[in-house]
Amino acid sequence: HHLHFALCLFFSLFFNATSHMLLLKNNTSPFPCNFLFGTSSSSYQFEGAFLSDGKGLSNWDVFTHKPGTIMDGSNGDIAVDHYHRYQVNKAGIDYYNRLIDALLQRGIEPFVTITHYDIPQELEDRYKGWLSPKIQEDFKYYADICFKNFGDRVKYWVTFNEPNVAIVRGYRSGLWPPARCSASFGNCSHGDSETEPFIAASNLILSHASVVTLYRTKYQKKQRGRIGIVMNAIWFEPLSNSREDKLAAERAQSFFMNWFLDPIILGNYPEEMHEILGPDLPSFSRNDKQKLKTSGLDFIGVNHYTSYYAKDCIFSACEPGKGSSRTEGFALNSPQINGFSIGQPTELDWLYVHPEGMEKIVTYIKNRYNNTPMFITENGLGTLEKPNPTIEDIINDVKRVEYLSSYLDSLATAIRKGANVRGYFVWSLLDNFEWTYGYTIRFGLHRVDYATLNRTRRFSALWYKQFIAQHTNKA
Ligand code: NOJ
Repeated sequence: HHLHFALCLFFSLFFNATSHMLLLKNNTSPFPCNFLFGTSSSSYQFEGAFLSDGKGLSNWDVFTHKPGTIMDGSNGDIAVDHYHRYQVNKAGIDYYNRLIDALLQRGIEPFVTITHYDIPQELEDRYKGWLSPKIQEDFKYYADICFKNFGDRVKYWVTFNEPNVAIVRGYRSGLWPPARCSASFGNCSHGDSETEPFIAASNLILSHASVVTLYRTKYQKKQRGRIGIVMNAIWFEPLSNSREDKLAAERAQSFFMNWFLDPIILGNYPEEMHEILGPDLPSFSRNDKQKLKTSGLDFIGVNHYTSYYAKDCIFSACEPGKGSSRTEGFALNSPQINGFSIGQPTELDWLYVHPEGMEKIVTYIKNRYNNTPMFITENGLGTLEKPNPTIEDIINDVKRVEYLSSYLDSLATAIRKGANVRGYFVWSLLDNFEWTYGYTIRFGLHRVDYATLNRTRRFSALWYKQFIAQHTNKA
């Protein structure tokens, strides 16, 4: 009661001192203490969403749809869209709550990725998405909602999935949204492949830092979770033992994975990027550097599928039209160079089977980042399916089993030698939408029939189940 009284007194004094609008006699307000001021609204006049989420028609819905009833012929179908705007989409929150609870009930630990490539189109339209520093505030706002709603049960958070791929495809080659690039790099009418990827990455890295800081200061103590980032990690193998090719492999890594992990963990971009890009590489302010340093991350998520050769392109000539981009650091990277192939080709042009790459990339990350805890957040094999497949074609995915077992073997070697790897996840549970490849490529341990959406367990699912049973502690 005392506190209440004190606050009330404070507000009356404040109004007395600042307002010229109130006519105050004897220096006191005519409104009693605790008097409520407000604004008024009503559902039909504000909400719109007249058919959303199972709502039935009201008598005003029916009435306003009759011609001649409303002066300007309008209705409250949309009204001022309050239903969609006043807060977070509750249906979305409910969906994730049900999913998280269902996982936990079955003894499955959820790892939640806050952003896996897609962002609201509104942010692209309003300020060009990742090209604007404004996105940092919006990303933080969104992450806060996630922590607040799910953080009591979610103990592993990922800020971004493969930002290196998202930025290169979105702003260099223009193959993915927002499809920006220079004409010489792809089929784009706007954008600048030489500068925009670095601006976008910079804003993304700072967004990561803000969200980690938010988690650390507002949630981590109570919720006791961990927060990290997931990178697409290719192993770049020097084509030869020459110093030049070794440097090329190092540059390739700098312009791919280290581009993001270095600033987040070590506080600045890799040296090679500074040297090659000069002033085109946005620099971090002292404030930013401080923020990066104090936030960091708790674990590194590693998505590893394939290895590429790297061949020097500075000291020797490159194939015309290849490897000359600054975003690749003047290294020619490909699973095949000069007739040398890094491993077994697969049905995917970008994926070659080279299990040794797993041990090598994990060891590389271990050494460069002081053995920060790692999770292999993705590893798997994509396959095509012939038309009218037999049940045998669908189920018998021996290639996938061979792939997974050889990569797990290589991972086990890295762990035996001291790499701090805490988990391994197969991409993917089910066949799904493979971005620009659509539904043509299948990564699932379970096959999906897209006509019926029926799921069928593949051999690899059984194999993985057995593998897990053999390799988890049983008392
Ligand atoms: C990386 C991505 O995170 C995922 O979305 C994609 O489907 C798989 N790898 C396979 O390409």
